[in-house]
Amino acid sequence: MAIRLGDTAPDFTAESTEGTISFHDWKGDSWAILFSHPKDFTPVCTTELGRVAGLKPEFDKRNVKVLGLSVDPVDSHNDWKGDIEDVTGNALNYPLLADPDRTVADLYDMIHPNANDTLTVRSVFVIAPDNTVKLTLTYPASTGRNFDELLRVIDSLQLTANHSVATPADWKNGEDVIIAPAVSDEDAKERFGDFDAKKPYLRVTNQPG
Ligand code: BEZ
Repeated sequence: MAIRLGDTAPDFTAESTEGTISFHDWKGDSWAILFSHPKDFTPVCTTELGRVAGLKPEFDKRNVKVLGLSVDPVDSHNDWKGDIEDVTGNALNYPLLADPDRTVADLYDMIHPNANDTLTVRSVFVIAPDNTVKLTLTYPASTGRNFDELLRVIDSLQLTANHSVATPADWKNGEDVIIAPAVSDEDAKERFGDFDAKKPYLRVTNQPG
């Protein structure tokens, strides 16, 4: 069944390039991203895995654990690692799950049979400290993901988890935010100080925190 926002991310135990992972135990109370790749030794996947390895310090800064998945076995992942480093300059520095029997892929609905009945699509799940799913993305095999956008979304998710605000189109960390409609003007003044009411329902203020 499809996983929807607010659902508890299903738990699983699977082999990875860093040993056996029991997902909820491994994740603990960090944020996590779980992202799938169609297949080992494929061009777009090679660039994506290297890019995420290069961004690992950015995920660490945000307390986000990174977990990749490709349906091939661990031996194949280990053989592929050298290519990822050769091509992107970044060595794999996070675990890559093996899922040869498609257990995790099925749990997370990562195989879309009308696209391809054996390979996973490019799924992303962002999972909060309480294990609820906060974001899902699905890209086709032919389109590599934009991981800067993923960091931007994580910044928004972490901000809006802690403050009664929302983030506007194309927002980036540090820019002005929108006060949540449920907050009264009086309450908004108390919480945020000055704000600019562009419309009664659209009140903008400096990013809190
Ligand atoms: C790729 O990663 O390049 C890829 C994987 C599966 C199908 C098409 C492209």
